[in-house]
Amino acid sequence: KLIPTILCGGAGSRLWPVSRELHPKPFIRLADGQSLLQKAFIRGAVLPEVEEVLTVTNRELFFKTQDEYREVNEAQLKTSYILEPFGRNTAAAIAAAAMHVVETHGEDAMLLVLAADHLIADQQAFATAVAQATALAQQGRLVTFGIQPEAPETGYGYIEAEGNEVRRFVEKPSLETAVEYVESGRFLWNSGMFCFQAGAMLQAMEQHCPDILSATRRCLEESRKSQGNGVVGLELDSDCFALVPDNSIDYAVMEQSSQIAVVPCTIGWSDIGSWSALGDLVPADAQGNRISGKALLHDVSNCYIQSGQRMVGAVGVDNLVIVDTPDALLVADKSRSQEVKYLYKELKAQN
Ligand code: GDD
Ligand code: MG
Repeated sequence: KLIPTILCGGAGSRLWPVSRELHPKPFIRLADGQSLLQKAFIRGAVLPEVEEVLTVTNRELFFKTQDEYREVNEAQLKTSYILEPFGRNTAAAIAAAAMHVVETHGEDAMLLVLAADHLIADQQAFATAVAQATALAQQGRLVTFGIQPEAPETGYGYIEAEGNEVRRFVEKPSLETAVEYVESGRFLWNSGMFCFQAGAMLQAMEQHCPDILSATRRCLEESRKSQGNGVVGLELDSDCFALVPDNSIDYAVMEQSSQIAVVPCTIGWSDIGSWSALGDLVPADAQGNRISGKALLHDVSNCYIQSGQRMVGAVGVDNLVIVDTPDALLVADKSRSQEVKYLYKELKAQN
């Protein structure tokens, strides 16, 4: 059994003003009308041996998520949920998912952890990579998917690989280190997807982050007591979930474990971490402009412009990102679109 487990958490602060707390990045719809979340669902649902899709998300997003899935769940797969009162990062989300799967399907059942906000262009290559990953996971390995790096991005995990073996996993290195890694040719980017047997992950957590494991276990038990077995899944109690340490699976397990394996793959992966990356999905015109919506341009080049209700006009500018929404307008230098996250932080601090 393979259970795609979709993690739908963070707001995606670099895609403000479209991505916000109640309209986070996974719900952004692309030109083909599908949201990133729907694409993630389909990505998992069409794989062989999949009967159920598990989602770990914030309880505020539950109904919205259900609606999104209903639109694309043609095979009417079972959908189950673990609902968080607030984010406690990916280690806790994955611990809860793995425990839930052990209880519902047994230790050997396999999880395929998928991010809710990535794009994978080549589904067939992805399916092949998953088949390789499940073979390794069957031997108790914790499998990552390695992407050929294109630039010394500091927001990613780096995997030093030899075939499927991993010499080290380094999460979010400094720029200096990332440059060195990319130049060496031995490192892959961690895609943020993982494949493992539920029992193998719990064992690794027992060894490397027992505090996260035990706090999450206590929370699952408490939450069950207060609500019994829900039809769709489990809503985590906020008092006990607050006691779970906040850490990502990358630091808590992947950097520590000797059971890590990697499947190097070329699958057209993108985590569309910024407007500049999202803009690249829209075809460019002869001046290098990418327009989503309505725009009037004079002597404008290499811009990404997204309009909402209103027409956007621009004259004599180059290399900008302009994103208009009913209550907020973003204007940014395209090469600095990563820094939009600071606006989001500032806004949160003001509120
Ligand atoms: N349910 C839930 N709860 N999901 C969460 C939470 C949480 O508290 N925190 C994050 N997520 C989800 C996000 O929505 C996203 O789909 C995924 O988990 C990864 O979280 P990010 O916050 O986007 O992680 P990152 O981008 O900093 O780093 C990860 O992804 C990179 C690739 O995109 C790491 O795995 C890196 O090693 C990797 O290179
Ligand atoms: Mg991310």
